[in-house]
Formats: sequence, structure tokens, C-alpha cells
Amino acid sequence: MKVITIANQKGGCGKTTTAISLAGWLCSQKNKVLLIDLDPQGHASYGVGADPVKIEKSIYNALTSAADKKTAIENIILNIWENLDLAPSNILLSTLEQELRDVDGAVSRLYDTFNSMSRDYDFIIIDCPPSLGFLTFNALRAAHMVVIPVETSRYSLVGISKLMNMIELIALKLRHTPKIKALVTIYDKRTNFSQRIQEETKEYFKDNLLKTPIRINVALKEAASAGIPIDRFNKYSNGAKDYGEVADEILKESRKIHLENFYKEKQAEKPAAREEIVTKTTSKMSDEHIFTFNSPGAKEVYIVGDFNNWSVLAPYKLNRLENGRWQKNVDLKPGKYRYKFVVDGQWVHDPFNKNTETNPFGGIDSVLTITA
Ligand SMILES: Nc1ncnc2c1ncn2[C@@H]1O[C@H](COP(=O)(O)OP(=O)(O)OP(=O)(O)O)[C@@H](O)[C@H]1O
Ligand SMILES: [Mg+2]
Repeated sequence: MKVITIANQKGGCGKTTTAISLAGWLCSQKNKVLLIDLDPQGHASYGVGADPVKIEKSIYNALTSAADKKTAIENIILNIWENLDLAPSNILLSTLEQELRDVDGAVSRLYDTFNSMSRDYDFIIIDCPPSLGFLTFNALRAAHMVVIPVETSRYSLVGISKLMNMIELIALKLRHTPKIKALVTIYDKRTNFSQRIQEETKEYFKDNLLKTPIRINVALKEAASAGIPIDRFNKYSNGAKDYGEVADEILKESRKIHLENFYKEKQAEKPAAREEIVTKTTSKMSDEHIFTFNSPGAKEVYIVGDFNNWSVLAPYKLNRLENGRWQKNVDLKPGKYRYKFVVDGQWVHDPFNKNTETNPFGGIDSVLTITA
């Protein structure tokens, strides 16, 4: 199960269009997809033909604590057609933040809901509201990948840093770093302006920009009005072609995602110890500790922990050895340290270190004690 969140607090930048079009393409390619409408406006629900006004139970009921309204997520899911399910939204969702304001762990409600869900999906796609509040925070926390649609208009990059700050906060507080992918939308290649915004977006996101921009295409608007994803509405439109290419790029990227230690139910299904992780201390005379991680397929590996404020920092990047192992010597004074590895953006604990502690967010940290 891979969770892709579509987020940007800027209104009208193409979040819902992206969420529906991606869900459509992924399910056409025989992936089992759950589309989560996390916007009280209910646009994603309308966009696949469901009417939020007529919906009795929505994603609100799966996330609330109110005993008379709460139900399992399975009970609110609607089947739209083969391989596509919808967790619909309605206006009640806008009351959730107020309701859960003082509830412990409320920022992980959606993540916890996915963890306890009995159904399995290849992809969960979350459409966020145009704000950086509680709902978007929940969606970022639950995501393996965050797709940020950037519309080619004035001020489109203004405010992106706030979204990036929220993602950094999640890394620091919840020890989770989703992969980031920006997507240029509503692109008119005939105008210098569109091209300039695309270049600026490339400069900002560098390798984290998806290659295919989504061109302006009226079929996308028509498909939304008809309540049908673009690949079914008009397969030959530019909108369908562009989103088809984006879906391919995202499929490729999603194959690189490490699932370990994120969603519990998938952990059990995975072959044991695909990544062998070993740590050892050189000698008691030295303060140096060697962290070793075995993963020939990884692109980059960091070590984070109490000793570096849980931050992904260049001096804590492991070096790749010829045999596919990764290694880093870290100076550590005698004491007790909790730590994790960050492997291509995913935070994983050390399965070969039996010494672990549950952290305040419900995850597992590895624990290392260095004696004097
Ligand atoms: N590539 C495109 N070409 C033409 N129209 C588009 C394109 N992408 C989106 N639109 C249209 O722009 C409008 C806004 O798009 P959309 O609803 O996807 O944005 P949003 O970010 O979800 O908005 P909100 O912030 O209100 O949730 C819609 O009318 C949609 O049909
Ligand atoms: Mg929307």
C-alpha cells in the first residue's frame, strides 16, 4: 500500500484534478486504488460521480472520536467501479479540527486509520483542502509521497515554503519524511510566463519536479463536470495524455519507496529483513560508533537520532561501500541514544537491534547504549 497525498494550500492549483486523474489512470492499469476526499468541499467526490449532499457517512465518521458517529473506514468506502473505491467527504469534515483539538495523537488520525484498515490497496490517493490546517497535516503524516501541484500563474510559488516547513516539522516531530514531487499544472507552453514559472519551479524543486507538465485542457474541466476521470472521459485528450505520463512517472517513483516500519500490516507480508542493518561500536577506548546499513538498492542513507536532533544532515550521511553496504562513523559520548535510519526518505528502525523503545508517536526507535 502506497499513500500519495496531493497538497498545496493555494486554491485552484489542480489538486483535485490531479487526484482524480491519477486515481483514474492507476486503476485503469489494474491497481487497486482508494481515493480519499479530505476536502470538506467534496470536489473529489463529485469528480468521480458521488454526491456529497446525499452521502450519509463520510471520511469524517472514520476520523471522529464521537462515539455516536464513529465507524470503521470500511463502512464509509464506496465502490465507484472496478479497482476504484472512494472515501467520500462532506461538509461535516470541516468540524473535525475543532473536535479533536485537545485529543492526543490527533495529527496521526488518518495514519492510524490506514494502519487498522482491513482492506488492502495498491495506492491510496488523498485530495487535500486548500489550507495548511489539521486535515492537510494528517494527510502529509500518512503519506509515502506528496505531490505538489504548481499552477503556472503569478504567486504560484509563494507559500510553498510554508508547506515545506510543515513537511519538515513532520520529519522532526513524527520522524517521517515523505518523498516530495512537484507537478506543473495548468501550463500554457505558448506563453513566456508559463515557461518562466516552470523554470522557477524546476529551480526550486530540482530533481523533485515531475518531468511532464499538465497542459491547459478544457477536457479536464468537462470531465470534472461529468464526474468521470479524464482517462475514461476522453482518452485522447491532452489532459489524459499528460496525466497518463505523470501516472507512469509516479509508478516508477513509487517502486523506490521503502515500506518498512511505516504501515504495520504490510510489514508482515514483506520478506523478512530485505535490508539487513547492523550497528557496532569500534572500541570502548574510542567514542566512535560505526553505523552500518546493508542496502545495495538505496540511493542515500542517513542516520538520525538524539545525537543530532533527529535531523537529516549532510555530516550524518552514510558512505556507500563497494559491497552495497552503507557506513558512517559517528562520535558518541557514553550515554543512551535513540536512532533511526533514513533510507531514500523513509525512516526505518534497525531490525537487527533488538533494543527498541516505542516513541510518543506510536513508532519504534532503536536504542543504543554506549558505556564509558
Ligand atoms: N490542466 C487544466 N486545464 C484546464 N483546467 C484545469 C486544469 N487543471 C485544473 N483545471 C480546472 O481548474 C479548476 C481548479 O482545479 P482543481 O479543482 O483541480 O483545483 P484545486 O487545487 O483542487 O482547488 P481547491 O483548492 O479549491 O481544492 C477546476 O475548474 C478544474 O477543472
Ligand atoms: Mg480541490
